Amino acid sequence: MHLTRWEEKAYEGEFGGALESAYRVLVATGRLLKADRLIPVVSAHISGVNYSNIGDAGVEFLESFSREARVKVKTTLNPCGIDSGKLELFNPPAEFVRKQERIVGSYMRMGVSKSLSCIPYEIDNRPRRGSHVAWAESSACVFGNSVLGIRTNRESAVSALASAITGRTPNAGLHLDDAREPKLVVEVEEEPVSSLDYGILGIFSGRLTSETIGLTGIGGDVTRLKALSAGIGTSGASAMFSLIEKAPKGVERVPFTKKEASSVREQLSSDLDPEVILVGCPFYTVKEVSDLARNLEGRKLKKPMYVHLSRSVYAEARSRGLVKTIEESGGEVIKDMCPSLSPTPKWMGFSRVATDSAKGSYYMKSALKLGVNLLSAEDLVRKYA
Ligand code: F3S
Repeated sequence: MHLTRWEEKAYEGEFGGALESAYRVLVATGRLLKADRLIPVVSAHISGVNYSNIGDAGVEFLESFSREARVKVKTTLNPCGIDSGKLELFNPPAEFVRKQERIVGSYMRMGVSKSLSCIPYEIDNRPRRGSHVAWAESSACVFGNSVLGIRTNRESAVSALASAITGRTPNAGLHLDDAREPKLVVEVEEEPVSSLDYGILGIFSGRLTSETIGLTGIGGDVTRLKALSAGIGTSGASAMFSLIEKAPKGVERVPFTKKEASSVREQLSSDLDPEVILVGCPFYTVKEVSDLARNLEGRKLKKPMYVHLSRSVYAEARSRGLVKTIEESGGEVIKDMCPSLSPTPKWMGFSRVATDSAKGSYYMKSALKLGVNLLSAEDLVRKYA
């Protein structure tokens, strides 16, 4: 892999240990991916923020790395494990809170924006179509490549951080045209209706290939495509889909009918009486909060409902009166905090939830060991308000 003279010096440690480590990560990744060189990126998005995911080793690494490392490009941050404005609601252990704050503090020292969002493209970080970026967070990568037309591989927490502080990424994979062409096509027999249905289609499609997926028979509603992206990112390694009219010649075709949809739904959902409703995985956009508030207006929730947002969407929703409407119906609006990977059930003592997210169900079942009932956002309101 070709490096410029400056990159070589950075790789050899002439500009300090942090840059040296970052270049070593990028060069090792680039060699694996058979990249010819490094290319500039305009932004990075970092995962590896929630203390329940990265643990003590992560806290220590970030504190040490952040003494020297500084980001070179606009860099946003995934959600963490707490909403520091609502600690009394979740009651997390003091040690968890302290360690979570140390993690976020380390990223701040490096110059990362305190977005704490898994939908960076909503308000915080929306690069222009065609831009090369280095984003971790699988749902955001798939959405970015497929809907926004930006170019990113599915970065890990470490490689996204390396790109953030060098402003570079290996020129390989989805940065190149060829990888962006569908290598398998899912033919959708009947267009799914809700975002949940799109999430289920995503879970099904993501299992089929790690390459770009073509999809026929579905429309381009952005909210639903966000759920589709999250599903694809959850069940496999693909980082892009493409909506097409019909499968190109010679490309494998896989049907998606009601039978496949029911089978995925059965794996992810149980018929149970939930103790709590969790929505916002990925975090809700302004449009989704607005739809929810409109549906809840004038109604009272019969179950606790937590609506998870980024702090920037929260500010916008608050200024439009949407937070007030949700709170008046008995819901809680939460910011910064991932509902599907934070140990909330342990802190609050619940074990059965309802959600509108196929991705959320996947992680709540596997990581949090919860029983999950999957219903569309509209059905959740119909049934529980
Ligand atoms: Fe976001 Fe957590 Fe879901 S980071 S996509 S809310 S698993």
